[in-house]
Amino acid sequence: MKTSPHVALARAAASLLLAAPLLASAQDAQIERKVAALLKQMTLAEKVGQLHQLSGRQFTGPTSSDYADKLADIRAGRVGSMLNVKGVADTREIQALALQSRLKIPLLFGLDVIHGYQTVFPVPLGESASWDMDAIRQSAHIAAREAAASGIHWTFAPMVDVSRDPRWGRVMEGAGEDTYLGSQIARARVLGFQGAKLGGTDAVMATAKHFAAYGAAIAGRDYNAVDMSEHQLFEVYLPPFKAALDAGVATFMNSFNTLNGVPATGSAWLQRDILKGSWGFRGFVVSDWGSVREMVPHGYASDLSDAAVKAMNAGSDMDMEGYAYSAHLEQAVKSGKVKMSAVDEAAGRVLYKKFELGLFDDPYKFSDAAREKAVLADSSHRAAALEMAQKSIVLLKNGPRPLAGAAVPGPLPLARGLKRIAVIGPLADSQRDLEGGWVVQGERAPVVSILQGIRRRAGATEIVHAQACAPGCATLDAASLEQAVKVAQQSDVIVLAVGETWDMSGEAKSRTDISLPGQQEKLFEALKATGKPIVAVMLAGRPLVFNTIADQADAIVYAWFPGSEGGNAVASVLFGDYNPSGKLPITFPRSVGQIPLSYAQYQTGRPVTDENNVVYKSAYIDSPNTPRYAFGHGLSYTSFAYTDLKLQRSGAGSMLSFDLANTGARSGEEVVQLYVRDMVASVVRPLKELKSFQKVLLKPGEHKRIQFAIGPEQLAFFNRQLKWGVEPGEFRLMVGSASDDIRLEAPLTIP
Ligand code: NOJ
Repeated sequence: MKTSPHVALARAAASLLLAAPLLASAQDAQIERKVAALLKQMTLAEKVGQLHQLSGRQFTGPTSSDYADKLADIRAGRVGSMLNVKGVADTREIQALALQSRLKIPLLFGLDVIHGYQTVFPVPLGESASWDMDAIRQSAHIAAREAAASGIHWTFAPMVDVSRDPRWGRVMEGAGEDTYLGSQIARARVLGFQGAKLGGTDAVMATAKHFAAYGAAIAGRDYNAVDMSEHQLFEVYLPPFKAALDAGVATFMNSFNTLNGVPATGSAWLQRDILKGSWGFRGFVVSDWGSVREMVPHGYASDLSDAAVKAMNAGSDMDMEGYAYSAHLEQAVKSGKVKMSAVDEAAGRVLYKKFELGLFDDPYKFSDAAREKAVLADSSHRAAALEMAQKSIVLLKNGPRPLAGAAVPGPLPLARGLKRIAVIGPLADSQRDLEGGWVVQGERAPVVSILQGIRRRAGATEIVHAQACAPGCATLDAASLEQAVKVAQQSDVIVLAVGETWDMSGEAKSRTDISLPGQQEKLFEALKATGKPIVAVMLAGRPLVFNTIADQADAIVYAWFPGSEGGNAVASVLFGDYNPSGKLPITFPRSVGQIPLSYAQYQTGRPVTDENNVVYKSAYIDSPNTPRYAFGHGLSYTSFAYTDLKLQRSGAGSMLSFDLANTGARSGEEVVQLYVRDMVASVVRPLKELKSFQKVLLKPGEHKRIQFAIGPEQLAFFNRQLKWGVEPGEFRLMVGSASDDIRLEAPLTIP
């Protein structure tokens, strides 16, 4: 009997699948052999060279070295990798120098490709608000595709540091406060950057950074010390790193901070015992910029040579702009302070990746001028950036006052047929501020400002504009304010674009005051006095504190730093072409005094049961405990109803199901969130923890049965011995639209 082509195809696919791990291990073994053979030919100096990483002419940290010396070192085989060199022309030129060295070992080119390369996507915290793993993966993939066409092999992303402190400027680069959401996003980003397989010309190596606990810097001050229990570390801060590793991340970067007294860069416990030991990581660890050297000012190493010894022995493989390995590692091996086998292992890990990328077969594989031109001109990348920006926008507030003619009870979406819209504010026509920090230096895709986006979309509605003050709004002069008020008075509605400038968040951008910078609140108050409805569009890389606007604006659209297509994305939300679906990945506090603040807090022995009576309660006398906007919060132009919760046994676990209905008049997406609380345990459990979510698209009137499997993944935790497991007893399962908007609950007993 003849086999049908479908069956034959399915069989072939199945046998390929079965063969895949075998093929992979055969390839691994082959690379291992090549690495071993190459190491045999290398001098100690050449091995150390593989562990030395230098920056090109553009800096992302403090440097001390002369560029001409760097080039000479590359030629001499004393450098393994460069960062901050990009573009086909430049990477070719520098690679050619490495190929003049004795063994012609190609360089790795690394770069901070954090949220796009030429096409700028929303900052990572913004993308995280989409809760859309496919979109996040695609964004990382496009960034990788553009970077890999431009000579780059390796991105220093994703940053998977959990952070619950918006004073820390780097919350912008991460996925927010939550371990579960952060782990899902870590996975999506790694898969996006690394594509189907390392070595593809549309993929770059990813880096899980900063290992570990960097997001918990004391007082939110960058580079500061971290002091936390091992329990907290394992439960909250490490899982996103593990998720990145499970997704196949090629490299890790360690961190600037000390963790419980030991610099992460010098921590054998973190790097050797956990990462390379119990987790079995096979890639390599790069230090953060100068973090090996910085163990001296930390007071952990007596001098640069001691720092080199401590970092290498702790498992830091590559020294980024630290000059400790290049200056002292050879001597440390000769004197017996570092074993030759440690250097062999580190160099072997780096060389392995160079083989895996195919650089020994073709060192210029990623530096092809024709591909660079074609890929950077691909217009589908802009379309994806627009979609990602739309998905990242969070509608924080909409209402209660309806505009005349509006179909829904908030001012948004803007009603058709408005005569005149005033677009006001320091960020209304800014392009640079829409991109945010951590964009690549040099040429980037053109940016559509909010004003431009609104103008393009406004049709017959007249758009009038006043900037009022420069970005940051340090000063607001009377004449400009008067002009802005005049423009506002002539209009039906005010769109006010305010927030941080692009350089107020990111590395080394910690703030003690996270309110709206400068005079922006004053500008808001003057406009409010006109009596016209105000839609605030806010740009920022972190949660800001903006109580006046939160109380008095008619609607608030939080757009983060939305990237190249930001203005079009904002306009599409304002006019209702896109129904917002973003949800906060991080809590918005009412004041700096509440920080650190997370929905996943522990119950105290004195919980507040009545906000009007907080005497001898775990409370503040001048503020509620609740946040301004909770984790998971985000509105839509439609509404969703949650009904008919059922909990049934299913295999070894349970299945929670309920009905989700779109009860409004427009199609929309809802992020349904599952939270779990373990009621009594050997370690006190948080009040709620996100354990699963789904993003569901429903047409008006449509409903769908949503299911969440409940098993160990959802119920287990790390006990006092740091063992992960489920303890029998009572649990509470909660589903809802935000961490403070639980719609349905069910108890669960584990016997
Ligand atoms: C320091 C930052 O902490 C790190 O995230 C970045 O990748 C390096 N500099 C390189 O720019």
